[in-house]
Order: sequence, then structure tokens, then C-alpha cells
Amino acid sequence: MRVVEAIADVREAVAAARRRGERIGCVPTMGTVHAGHLSLVTECQRQSGFVVVSIFVNPTQFAPHEDLGTYPRSLEEDLAKCRAAGVDLVFTPNVPTIYPDGFETFITVERISQMLEGEHRPTHFRGVATVVAKLFNIVQPDVACFGQKDYQQQALIRRMVRDLDIPVEIMVCPTVREEDGLALSSRNTYLNTEERQAALSLCESLQLADQHVRDGETDLAKIRAVMRGHLESHADVEPEYATIADADTLKELNEPRPPMVALVAAKVGKTRLIDNLVIGEE
Ligand code: PAF
Repeated sequence: MRVVEAIADVREAVAAARRRGERIGCVPTMGTVHAGHLSLVTECQRQSGFVVVSIFVNPTQFAPHEDLGTYPRSLEEDLAKCRAAGVDLVFTPNVPTIYPDGFETFITVERISQMLEGEHRPTHFRGVATVVAKLFNIVQPDVACFGQKDYQQQALIRRMVRDLDIPVEIMVCPTVREEDGLALSSRNTYLNTEERQAALSLCESLQLADQHVRDGETDLAKIRAVMRGHLESHADVEPEYATIADADTLKELNEPRPPMVALVAAKVGKTRLIDNLVIGEE
């Protein structure tokens, strides 16, 4: 496994793989590699012969008051996990490599950026779209893998790729969960024991939504209230949103119209977590 920091080195390694006739796969990450990321690597290996993982804590997707400074970083462990997983190339650029002096071009995916996460993190998706587009330009992958855990992110990236004719296939892989249901997230490392327990309320509220839809409840406002109520019943949990939306457009629904996705975001202690579940499916 090669580890490179320079764009020219990525291009050279990718060009060599192409000359060998390999399809190129890409897994963008911000590091703190966990089983969720490794499941993306495995899927990427199924889809391509040469897998590039990027590890870059992207400053432009953090607002000034967010956790950029304290975001968990564990490069040596990350590299060991990537090596063990059989990754071919890890790209670990520094900030000036991605955002050189004078950088002023950003991508905004208009509608999807504004709702849900966008209401609480107005500049977040502009940073995500911009860095992912840059990574696609640098690596020029045939396929890129993202987790369903960041549901709105994958919807935004799929929209951007379609709108800008970026020649990459986007694969979305299922959320990886702990045995008790907690969705894996690098931010779970912030949680203390009580918060870790309270954080289960996010996936529980999604399961409640699924159960109510399966039981035939058609008033989705009522189900949203149940989801929020469940989150609020935990002292450490402060919900930001709890909703049911069209799985493609992410527009909030008032009556069941599959495919639907339930989405939640909440602060657990000081840690902001998100989760989602496609609901009401056979
Ligand atoms: O999902 C993430 O880890 C990040 O948002 C991504 C896609 C790597 C862009 O920085």
C-alpha cells in the first residue's frame, strides 16, 4: 500500500493502474477509520481493481463553532487498517494541497444543501460538495463508495455527479451498526458511557417510525411527534430534527408514499449525531 500526500503522486499511481487495465475505485474519508469505512473499502474492491482511500479532515465543511479542531485524528491506526484491508493507495493531502492560497471556487447543490442538515449546518454541504468534486478530479475514479449513514450527503453527491456530468458511478453502502443498533460514526468516540447509552435513542426512534408505518399509521405528523418524543425522553438528548421524507427528494411527507426515509439529528451531550432508516419496506 502506498501513502501519498501530493496530487501528482495520486495521478501517477492511478495512471499506472489504468495502464494495467484496472478500474479505479475511491473511498473518501475524514479518517478515524472504522468498520463502516472498511465496508466501503470492501464494496469498492468488489467494483474495482485499484482502491484509493483519501483521508482528509476537510475544513470547509465545518462551521467556525464546530469541532474541526478536536475532530478525532488517528492517521497511524487508519493506515494500519487500510493496509490490513488491502487498500492500494491512501491519499493524505494537507490543507494547502486541497485549498491553495487564493482558492475561491465552491460548489453548491442548491436545494438539497438547504434542508435538514443544511438548516442546522448552512455551509456544511458546500464544503462537502467542493471537496468531493476535487477528489473526483484528482483521482478520476470509475466508482466511488459512500455510506447510507450520511443519507443527505449521498443524495447530494449523486445529484452533483448527475448535474455536472462527472463520469463516476456512486455506490451507496448500508449503514454499519454496533450490535445494539448504534450507527458507527467517528464522533461516537466523543461519547461517555451514559451518552453512549442515550445515543441509542436515535436508532430507536427510527425503528419506532418503521413500526408505526408497518402497523398502518398514515398520519406521519403523529409519527414524527413519536420520534421526537422518544428522543426528548432522554435527559442527555436534544433533538434537532426527526422527520420522514421521500427517499429520493428528501422532501418531508405527510402521508406514506414509499420509498420513504426516516431521518434524525440530535445533540447527545455536546456531540451531534445523525442517523436514518429506509422505512415501510417489505
Ligand atoms: O463523509 C465524510 O467523511 C466526509 O463528508 C467526506 C465525504 C469524506 C467529505 O469530506
